[in-house]
Amino acid sequence: MRKRRVAVLISGAGSNMAALIDAGLAPDTAFEVVLAVSNIANAGGLAVAEAKGVAVQTIPHAAFGRDRAAHERAIDEALKAHGVEMVALAGYMRVLTPWLVGGWRGRMINIHPSLLPLYPGLDTHARALAAGDAEAGCTVHGVTEGVDEGPILGQVRVPVLHDDTPASLAERVKTAEHRLYPRVLHAVCNTLD
Ligand code: GAR
Repeated sequence: MRKRRVAVLISGAGSNMAALIDAGLAPDTAFEVVLAVSNIANAGGLAVAEAKGVAVQTIPHAAFGRDRAAHERAIDEALKAHGVEMVALAGYMRVLTPWLVGGWRGRMINIHPSLLPLYPGLDTHARALAAGDAEAGCTVHGVTEGVDEGPILGQVRVPVLHDDTPASLAERVKTAEHRLYPRVLHAVCNTLD
């Protein structure tokens, strides 16, 4: 089996990225992570990727000012330079333009910390708690032009406990994310041409 070459885009700690890198090392996994890209210069995940022997590239959006297109062209060039076939957004906290989304259609997925279509956007855990939900969870979906709107590829549900805070719920959901994301990415890579 030929492993698909995956890039992970991050902005922060990169714990989902780490889960993908580790899963990709197993011989029967349909992908390997070959590149981590961050739009934040000191993102914690960069050191994590480096320590795991994965190429990293920092492409700070701040350096491009308001020119989103130029920033995304730089990202796209990095992806192509590394022979990337599939892109996984993992805590990448920047909305992509239709140009990059369109160029990677069917080959870009995202993980989101809620049971979409509930709670797209930010502060998902606080919103789930405020609504009194009995369950929370995470979703992996295909990336389309609408934010957190693409086709749902997999979800994991977790219980909300009576004494949960946004932080404690986030931690429980994060553990579920680390199980879900490698599983879905493996399945998607198995369906690529
Ligand atoms: C994860 O919980 C991910 O679902 C979320 O950011 C966190 C990143 O954590 N993504 C979003 O909110 C995107 N809208 P990580 O850097 O440890 O993987």
